[in-house]
Amino acid sequence: MKWLFYVIVFVYLFYRAVYGLKESNSLYVEPITYEEDLKYLPVGTRKTIACKVLNRNQKVEWLNNHGNVVKHENTNRVFSQTKHLMNSGRIVTEQVLTFTHAVVEDSGVYTCRTDKTSQEVELCVIDASDFVNTPKEIAVNQGRSYTLSCEARGQPEPRIVWNRNGEDIKDDGDDSSKYRLMEKYNRQGFESLLTITSLEADDHGIYTCTAIQENSKLSDCSLSKSWNITLIVNHAPVFLDGNDIELVYAKENQSVDLVCSASAFPKSSYRWFHYEDDHTLFEYSQKQIIDSPDTGEATLSIVADKSNYDRRFLCRATNELGNNSKTFTIVQMEKPDKPSEVNLVQSSDTELVLNISWFDIHFPIDGIEAQYMVVSGTNLKRKTPREAEWKRGKQSELVKVDDGEENIYSLQDLEEETEYWIRVRTKNDIGYSPWSSPISASTTKSDTTLLIVTMETVTESETETDEEKLDEETKDNNEGEVSSHNFEGTFYGLFFIGGIFVLGFICVFVMRMV
Ligand SMILES: *[C@@H]1O[C@H](CO)[C@@H](O)[C@H](O)[C@H]1NC(C)=O
Ligand SMILES: *[C@@H]1O[C@H](CO)[C@@H](O)[C@H](O)[C@H]1NC(C)=O
Ligand SMILES: *[C@@H]1O[C@H](CO)[C@@H](O)[C@H](O)[C@H]1NC(C)=O
Ligand SMILES: *[C@@H]1O[C@H](CO)[C@@H](O)[C@H](O)[C@H]1NC(C)=O
Repeated sequence: MKWLFYVIVFVYLFYRAVYGLKESNSLYVEPITYEEDLKYLPVGTRKTIACKVLNRNQKVEWLNNHGNVVKHENTNRVFSQTKHLMNSGRIVTEQVLTFTHAVVEDSGVYTCRTDKTSQEVELCVIDASDFVNTPKEIAVNQGRSYTLSCEARGQPEPRIVWNRNGEDIKDDGDDSSKYRLMEKYNRQGFESLLTITSLEADDHGIYTCTAIQENSKLSDCSLSKSWNITLIVNHAPVFLDGNDIELVYAKENQSVDLVCSASAFPKSSYRWFHYEDDHTLFEYSQKQIIDSPDTGEATLSIVADKSNYDRRFLCRATNELGNNSKTFTIVQMEKPDKPSEVNLVQSSDTELVLNISWFDIHFPIDGIEAQYMVVSGTNLKRKTPREAEWKRGKQSELVKVDDGEENIYSLQDLEEETEYWIRVRTKNDIGYSPWSSPISASTTKSDTTLLIVTMETVTESETETDEEKLDEETKDNNEGEVSSHNFEGTFYGLFFIGGIFVLGFICVFVMRMV
């Protein structure tokens, strides 16, 4: 029986060693989450962080962001507390770190540790910036310089950046610079001064001041808050597209709108005239003018006919700060001009991209049409197809490729690896231009690109699915970490006890025999 006792003691020690090791790894700190959409803990709020450990006999403690052990005195602002919970029939020790009202200095890395293992967690506390003494709207007369001030108070100390229409405002540092930036600290907080020199109509608009708070130690602990200041520049009317004569195209007997739109603050009042001769102005009555106060425009509707083609119309915009005029001319619309040149820019298996140019564009173009046919036996040898042959060709509208100035168009839905004759013409309300001289161009062979793309897509989606699964597994693991370790531990423990008992009995049996 003595042997049996030894064996049992040995088995117990062995079990403790193995099982204890397993347990020491099952330390688990709840991930930190913040209220609503916040990525930080607002100052003054309460927060608890739980650290769970399986073994009730192990010492568990929290180390604060300076590496010191957090005391259990719950009269402190920050303290640690031990709780025991039942989880899947086993006792789980929970060490809860509590911040009764968080301060910015609490930000940092906290460590939950036992003798054998530890886990770190980052806490981010921010006192979000408040904008103080910062106006929402300011009106200033043109010509002078003006300084916008933006003052933000918060912790960590905010820094301020300015932008307008999505672009950062920079101080070039030289005297010709449009903007000057200056920073000031005072009792209230951090103040940034933006000086805009010699204000003009263009400077009118929204200036956004953004206060950025960053924790110097934690890279993920930051916050940006913005404040919009509307700067109203009182200015005389200006035509933002310039004062050049504006040409308005019209068919005979067509009614056209001459739209006068000046940027001004306060808003302009408008008068419309036409020149009887070089010196005499005829003024239209206000009844003939459509005022749109919302958009700040005044429209004069004219029926185009022989009497007013090439006549000059004048719009005068006036406000308290001055006046400005713009001239309009009605031009008789004609058929568009024939393209002078067509060049192939790029080809694929279904598409030809063409660069179309003109010597001069006199009239508006509403679209471009192409006629095309396969280069075949009958027209192969000759240089260009005869007019009669074009009748068998297909017709199609070209698609503009870019929105820019360039006239790049695409002819689509073609057969692969085919040579085509192509000619183009332009159209507008009046009609079509003559056809351009034809060019020949070939589509390419459809390659395996499509196949590769498809395969890549499949691989990608597979990887994604795997990742998703992994994510899900990780989540599950996190939630059930303590209980799964629990199960694993029990399993290995029982296995070892069983195995060693069997071994023990064999030993005892052998001893007895001897
Ligand atoms: C500031 O103005 C911009 C542009 O108009 C707008 O998108 C943004 O939401 C505004 N921000 C605030 C804080 O009002
Ligand atoms: C325009 O109208 C006038 C008078 O009504 C008419 O004589 C003339 O033929 C019309 N012109 C066109 C191009 O329709
Ligand atoms: C328009 O402004 C000019 C000065 O820029 C002034 O001389 C003129 O009298 C003004 N005209 C009207 C009609 O207000
Ligand atoms: C298109 O043609 C014009 C005039 O020939 C030329 O200036 C331009 O660079 C061409 N664009 C392209 C993309 O080939």
